[in-house]
Amino acid sequence: MTAKKNASALEKQGASELPGLEAPVLGPTGRPLRVFPQPAPLKSHGPARIISLCNQKGGVGKTTTTVNLGATLADDGRRVLAIDFDPQGALSAGLGVDTHDSLTIYDLLLGTEKDPHNVIRHTSVPNFDIIPANIDLSAAEVHLISEVARETILARVLRKVSDEYDVILIDCQPSLGLLTVNALTASHGVLIPLECEFFALRGVALLVETIEKVKDRLNPAIKLDGILATMYDSRTLHSREVMQRVVDAFGPEVLETVIGRTIKFPDASVSGTPITQFAPDHPAANAYRQLARELVFRGAVA
Ligand SMILES: Nc1ncnc2c1ncn2[C@@H]1O[C@H](COP(=O)(O)OP(=O)(O)OP(=O)(O)O)[C@@H](O)[C@H]1O
Ligand SMILES: [Mg+2]
Repeated sequence: MTAKKNASALEKQGASELPGLEAPVLGPTGRPLRVFPQPAPLKSHGPARIISLCNQKGGVGKTTTTVNLGATLADDGRRVLAIDFDPQGALSAGLGVDTHDSLTIYDLLLGTEKDPHNVIRHTSVPNFDIIPANIDLSAAEVHLISEVARETILARVLRKVSDEYDVILIDCQPSLGLLTVNALTASHGVLIPLECEFFALRGVALLVETIEKVKDRLNPAIKLDGILATMYDSRTLHSREVMQRVVDAFGPEVLETVIGRTIKFPDASVSGTPITQFAPDHPAANAYRQLARELVFRGAVA
């Protein structure tokens, strides 16, 4: 039986190990490979579960994951809002949203715009909205440092729209500064993308420590939703070794879905669309579909 046939058989059954084989086929994380089923449609929407995509290491796939996880959750009928929380504005660009001369998250943080509805933009994917950012956001930390309850400003902004969405994804910048602390304080969960390369685990201890501090002092309910291995290349021993080290370090926190390395992601970003629109049949689009479904399966998303 081909892998494709196995997959479609499993889609019908719900997530389970591949059937009819003497030894289970192991996925990259060393656990039996499974296909997560398309979730049932929701009967009602909101309040949103808020998830930060966080890693102070640059270029690990935070923005790519926000774009594509948001799009696949929306394709599965979830109402999704993504927050661009990086002054580079890569999320806004990756979703084809022009931020020149427009209201952004910066206006909401500073309170010069009170209503998030005036800042929310639709993307090309139905049910998938974004609050954009641009370089103005780089001044936010300086402005907010003297504010009362400066760590909870984003949480207060998101409260105004939370009931209208099922999930809010916050694309953090590569730093553990005040903006990221705001994101963690506003969140129910954190998803940590880790690039499958040699220094992947460097700095993760500091990130986990920061999450623990936020949990202790600001947001007792926050939890780690999972570690997502990205840019995995099964052909290289190096990728497989890094994967093994990540699994040794984090065990079941490592999500079963692993995102492979492919040039399709940079190409999709340039076109300002998620991979599910740019190359819907590419395995990389399917990987993000599986990620969305695994998160629903784990209860991280409704
Ligand atoms: N699975 C992948 N395979 C190949 N390239 C990828 C993959 N995921 C992301 N990329 C590319 O790697 C680069 C960094 O990805 P991305 O911008 O998502 O990381 P980031 O963690 O948001 O970075 P930053 O810390 O700068 O915000 C981008 O050019 C992106 O297109
Ligand atoms: Mg980014």
